[in-house]
Amino acid sequence: MTTETIEPPRSAARARGGVNWEKWGWLYMRFSGVLLVVLIFGHLLVNLFLGQGVSAIDFAFVAGKLANPFWIVWDTLLLWLALIHGANGMRTLTNDYARGKLRIVLLVLLAGATVTLLALGTLVLTTFDPCIGSDQVDALIEVCR
Ligand code: HEM
Repeated sequence: MTTETIEPPRSAARARGGVNWEKWGWLYMRFSGVLLVVLIFGHLLVNLFLGQGVSAIDFAFVAGKLANPFWIVWDTLLLWLALIHGANGMRTLTNDYARGKLRIVLLVLLAGATVTLLALGTLVLTTFDPCIGSDQVDALIEVCR
């Protein structure tokens, strides 16, 4: 049986007198977790439970929500907090289970996916326009006209 020595936490950063990123990451997981409970359950309540419930969800429902700045801020917070929370959690798992070059490759892929999704999600949330680029005649286009 092989044994592996686990370094005491904080030692490297503390010894150099630098910022203790692991501590801030640990705290971020707890604080974002508390906020995510409110944001996720608020999201589920409004989308799936109140009013006509899940059967009301369609393009117009989403367009209606994203016409309101309150939901744009809510969804943007949900996107950033959940994505960074999930990515930081996956970083921890990767550091725990992967070694050598595989660990570096996985961390780079994770960072790339996180930045891409944050950029695309934020772009959609802040620029969404239900009438853009449509020339077909249907109910939505009539409303937009
Ligand atoms: C109700 C909302 C949530 C709460 C309260 C919450 C809470 C937490 C906490 C406290 C940790 C740290 C656990 C540890 O260090 O041992 C954690 C880890 C993690 N969370 Fe969340 N979380 C929530 C939502 C999410 C969401 C939406 C995602 C995905 C985007 C996610 C993905 C992860 C991952 C991948 C880890 C790492 C798991 C591990 O270290 O074993 N969580 N979560």
